[in-house]
Amino acid sequence: MSFKITVLISGYGSNLQSLIDHCENGFWRAEINHVISNKKAAYGLERARQNDILASYLPYFSKKEPRSVYEMELLSLILSNGKPDLVVCAGWMHVLGVEFLENIQAEGIRIINLHPALPGMFPGTDGIGSAYRAFRANPFRTEKWVGVAGCMVHNVIPEIDAGKVISTFKVPIYSQDSEEDLRNRVQIAEKFCLLEAVSSIILENNKYNKS
Ligand code: GRF
Repeated sequence: MSFKITVLISGYGSNLQSLIDHCENGFWRAEINHVISNKKAAYGLERARQNDILASYLPYFSKKEPRSVYEMELLSLILSNGKPDLVVCAGWMHVLGVEFLENIQAEGIRIINLHPALPGMFPGTDGIGSAYRAFRANPFRTEKWVGVAGCMVHNVIPEIDAGKVISTFKVPIYSQDSEEDLRNRVQIAEKFCLLEAVSSIILENNKYNKS
């Protein structure tokens, strides 16, 4: 019996890949049991299929159905392949409502989110771009000035990119950085941050620890 992780994605799935690799190399007694995307073109779906992981696409069309109906369907889909122990939002671009979060909690499933900014900084989309622009706009910045950006993993609560912090990873912003340089650095840090968070959650679940 292994710790079951369902991953919600909307895009490229590099963080998903890092979770897949970590499961496959045997570091954790864990498996990704389902990958769900709200975007059809998400390459992460292909990554799942290539690794024989169930991959589902569930789009949300705000004009077709209320958000609460979509999120009920999402919950059913999450439960459809065996109840996961953990749901990881890894580049998942959809804000989950109170009802969904209450229902998932009632099922005893923990849900966490990876956000590319440090706690309390730049919630919402484009956390990296916002950190970069704030740094560039700093009037005290000099050629030697080094700023701080980073990422975090937190429990999902109704407030966007808030919730108890599980792990953080800081990275420097250098004066000569382009936004792309910072993006690359934060996206590397995200892998470490996510692995640390998931590792700590698995270790809390004593029954899955390897002897
Ligand atoms: C990550 O930077 C994540 O924090 C952000 O979107 C990106 C997703 O990357 N919200 P990937 O799909 O895991 O490659």
